[in-house]
Amino acid sequence: MTGGEHLARFRTLLATRMGWTFADADLPHLGQELAARAAARGLDAGAYLDRLGAGGWREEISTIAEDLTITETYFFRHGEQFRALADTVLPERIAARAERRALRLLSVGSSSGEEAYTLAIIARTAAPGPDWIVSVLGLDANPAMLRKAAGACYSGWSLRETPDEVRQRWFRPRDGGHEVLPEIRELVRFRQYNVADEDAALWRPDLYDVIFCRNLLMYLTPATAAALVRRMTRALAPGGYLFLGHTDSLGSRPDGLEPQHDHGTFYYRRPPAAPAAGPAPAAPRRDPAPGPPAAPPAAAADRIRALLHAERFADALDLAEAALTDHPARPDLLLYGVLLAQAGRLDDAEITARRLLDRDGLDADAHHLLAVCLEGGAAVDVAIGHYRLAAYLDPAFAMPRVRLGLLARRRGDHRTALTELDRAVDLLRGESDDRLAMFGGGFGRIALSHLCRTEIDACGSRR
Ligand SMILES: C[S@@+](CC[C@H](N)C(=O)[O-])C[C@H]1O[C@@H](n2cnc3c(N)ncnc32)[C@H](O)[C@@H]1O
Repeated sequence: MTGGEHLARFRTLLATRMGWTFADADLPHLGQELAARAAARGLDAGAYLDRLGAGGWREEISTIAEDLTITETYFFRHGEQFRALADTVLPERIAARAERRALRLLSVGSSSGEEAYTLAIIARTAAPGPDWIVSVLGLDANPAMLRKAAGACYSGWSLRETPDEVRQRWFRPRDGGHEVLPEIRELVRFRQYNVADEDAALWRPDLYDVIFCRNLLMYLTPATAAALVRRMTRALAPGGYLFLGHTDSLGSRPDGLEPQHDHGTFYYRRPPAAPAAGPAPAAPRRDPAPGPPAAPPAAAADRIRALLHAERFADALDLAEAALTDHPARPDLLLYGVLLAQAGRLDDAEITARRLLDRDGLDADAHHLLAVCLEGGAAVDVAIGHYRLAAYLDPAFAMPRVRLGLLARRRGDHRTALTELDRAVDLLRGESDDRLAMFGGGFGRIALSHLCRTEIDACGSRR
């Protein structure tokens, strides 16, 4: 194969693995990257491309993302969009969420975090009270940018468009820079994610109030950009809003979105759900049937879940306790048990897990919860039995694999540790956000995968 053919293949692979498109003028730069990466891996260009084309090899994909992405960003970039957010969009979403009192915002291609923190500052300021839950998730493929975002400390240049009063209220000096205050940082989480990959949990329907995806679509192939816009549209709550970069137009008739125009900027709205049809004709009056009292209203369960995702465990437990009925539905009882365990009330959590298992002995989450309660005491072997059952009952459940691997390593059983941790790394990619929030012990997907990999390395073998 000639150098030109290698380069063409590299370009195609970057389109399939990362969703990127490159102009012909970028080819010399791509050629340098191909040569540098192949050399760094001790391979010739052909062997390197074969390996890249075989799939997986996530560390290499991350390194390429670090080398080739354009990461320019700053706080309050394109201020008119943030003014539309503060003046038009958030008041409307706050009215729509009055019962649940929770706002979820997403920054896709969040780079070093400035956009996600700007969203958090504006949403926190707009929220009617401190009891409102604001959560912002930032997604990016470039791990170096995610590390910077997690550090939350920025130069004056990053704050060049930040109003003085915002700078004084939400930042403090650190190491010659400006650190975002903890009360904003705790609203924001970041996650490594490549928009060319599917992730059903991230793009669950009706999830987000507001999505910002600015200055990313222009780097993507038309197919990747279209797929991403479809996912974002579906994941917006009815009445939710999408903001794109100035050069990323969807035209005047985008599928499932209505263009909006105010504050000198364009953005999009998913139309609100049609109002329910008029009241149904009155049914003949009947005495209420005897039976269990109603489960807590869905709004309470949603709120508890939102608090759990925001890692406000004590508040979540208070609310779960207040909302608990005599005959709670299974998801509410499970949440309650998880929160008891997180609060260190292991005896109560164990009772709750056993209650769940009395109802359904094949409940994988309940077995896992019971094992968590038992693991710290004398009954480690019994805990292992319940972790095994949880993993057996739901082969896609990553968390029992993580625990089984860590326990095996602690006991010096490296073979079992390797098997379980290897499986855990694979399954963690698809683990649901709810299960991560319930059983991840405060660690997210990336941190847990990293932990598993470190333990695998410590067992003396690399994946
Ligand atoms: C120019 S920055 C935009 C930052 C911010 N949204 C803004 O407008 O200020 C583009 C970001 O998209 C990220 N990116 C590029 N390709 C990506 C991909 N396939 N998946 C996820 N993020 C990607 C880059 O790492 C970079 O941080």
